[in-house]
Amino acid sequence: MTPIHEPGAARRKLVVGNWKMNGGHGANAELLAALQAAGPWVAEVAVCPPFPYLAEVALSLQGSSIAWGAQDCSAHDSGAYTGEVSAAMVAEFGCRYVIVGHSERRALHGESDQLVADKAKAALAHRLTPIVCVGETLAERAAGQTTEVVKRQMSVVVHTLAHCISQVVVAYEPVWAIGTGKTATPEEAQAVHALLRAQLKAATAHAGDMKILYGGSVKGDNAAALFGQADIDGGLIGGASLKAADFAAICRAAA
Ligand code: 13P
Repeated sequence: MTPIHEPGAARRKLVVGNWKMNGGHGANAELLAALQAAGPWVAEVAVCPPFPYLAEVALSLQGSSIAWGAQDCSAHDSGAYTGEVSAAMVAEFGCRYVIVGHSERRALHGESDQLVADKAKAALAHRLTPIVCVGETLAERAAGQTTEVVKRQMSVVVHTLAHCISQVVVAYEPVWAIGTGKTATPEEAQAVHALLRAQLKAATAHAGDMKILYGGSVKGDNAAALFGQADIDGGLIGGASLKAADFAAICRAAA
């Protein structure tokens, strides 16, 4: 696998909109037009629509400063996997990114740490940048297991990708902060980002160049404080990525 980082792009802030299972032809066109009118931003910006809309999003954003990606990909290249979409297919639509291991997929689809790592590997094989999500549940945090959980989730990806680990973007998304309006404080988030960076440093000399995003109820009014932390390199945004004004405010905060 060859390096796919843009030279000079290391640690430039990145803001990614995860649309989840939202959108439609009309709403997408409106949102994308408004975003293009609001940009460009100092930060790199990307949106991840549902699979069926990748073609129209690619058409709309081609030549713009906004990149796009998918919300998942299969660990397999092709074959009898009804309902799955391969990394090769996603790559054909000009995607730069693919989210893997989102907590909603881990929880609702039983995705294991190893499956998430295999998906990241498939993405890299097709020159996509995987955005690997890790994060603890409320019960795990309450039990003092945050460090153990995120390190375990990360270590399987580190082990599976070996020296290619430097090519991924990591997203720390505490499950209890997703869609709840309860954001981790900048200090709480930074503490986990710092331990993830330390774990990556033990695996690659390029850990200092890797992006670690925070996700979980990021809004226009809390984004700047989160993104101001030493090891927070941007955000993975759910609900607030569906409204152009809200998403644009977050992108501006990532200057
Ligand atoms: P919210 O921003 O809606 O909390 O979602 C975060 C998320 O899950 C992004 O992947």
